[in-house]
Amino acid sequence: MPRLTQARPTASTLVVAAAATAFICSIAALAAQGGQAAPAARAGQPPAGNQTAPAPPPPPKPLVPVTASSVIAAPDRYLGETVTLTGIVDKAMSITTFTVDHDAKTSSDKSILVIARRTLNEPVVADEYVTVIGELIKYDPAEVAKRKDPAFVSDVPAETLAAFAGRPVVLATTVFQGSRDLAMRLPPPMTPAEEALDKAMKAVGPANGAFRKGMAGSNVELAAKNAAILREAFVESEQFFKAQRMREPERWAVDARRIVESIQKAVAANNWTAVKAEADNLGKACQTCHAAYRDRYDDGSFRLIRPGGQ
Ligand code: HEC
Repeated sequence: MPRLTQARPTASTLVVAAAATAFICSIAALAAQGGQAAPAARAGQPPAGNQTAPAPPPPPKPLVPVTASSVIAAPDRYLGETVTLTGIVDKAMSITTFTVDHDAKTSSDKSILVIARRTLNEPVVADEYVTVIGELIKYDPAEVAKRKDPAFVSDVPAETLAAFAGRPVVLATTVFQGSRDLAMRLPPPMTPAEEALDKAMKAVGPANGAFRKGMAGSNVELAAKNAAILREAFVESEQFFKAQRMREPERWAVDARRIVESIQKAVAANNWTAVKAEADNLGKACQTCHAAYRDRYDDGSFRLIRPGGQ
């Protein structure tokens, strides 16, 4: 982590710097994972084997660590850069939009505008440190409107924002204050039925791993024991989807259970060639259903995608 330019090495800036490093890693991880699939790509997806992989995202630009004071002093130097900007919140204008300054006491007319990629989970606190990560441009509503994925939509009236025309704005994908990224997309609470599916899938993960280990070592006992767990979990998944009237994943859960049953027979017969072929089919079954019905949130948790939005 390069040192923040012009930042005094006080305890709090160091904490912020360390925290920002952690964030940069999580941002890199997010970027590596290609972000979230577009909703249009999820709904009405063709069955397995027919899916075209989305084009890989362009490699992320290197992050430029800056302080609010260095940007205020020479904004043009950072135009078009993806910055990790640390400063002090001057004013929370709305749940998506705020200004950043270098000093808690004076509110300068040179403060930097920040528009977050989404509604923050809670508003930023004024007069406290904030670290935002995003592209720094000169504020121009037409230019901001061009940003689509993510879109940066401010709920501050256009007349108010007009005062920022030509001044630096950070289009922030990350808004780090306290110990959290307030711009993280957090999962909604689960219904009791969804919790049952979640529990089944949390069993499927390790059982699948253990089964594959058994298969690799031609270990009948290990493979059989975990295939039984997989079967049980797919029966539960099938029941869940049936109760939710979600026909397609219900069918896919049935398919997965049948594959596991073939695996169980092949394991019992010590026919590892057949086990391996079926294990490949099972892997495809996992992927097909996940691509269409599983969503990953920024905290790493998973939720069911319901067709037509959540
Ligand atoms: C019929 C659909 C379907 C099939 C088949 C399926 N899954 Fe899932 N899986 C889901 C959905 C939906 C979620 C997200 C819901 C959740 O986790 O609460 C999920 C979540 C998961 C999770 C994350 C659990 C968590 O919350 O941490 C794991 C791990 C997982 N599946 C593994 C597997 C594996 C391995 C297979 C194949 C052997 C598989 N799944 C097959 C639908 C399916």
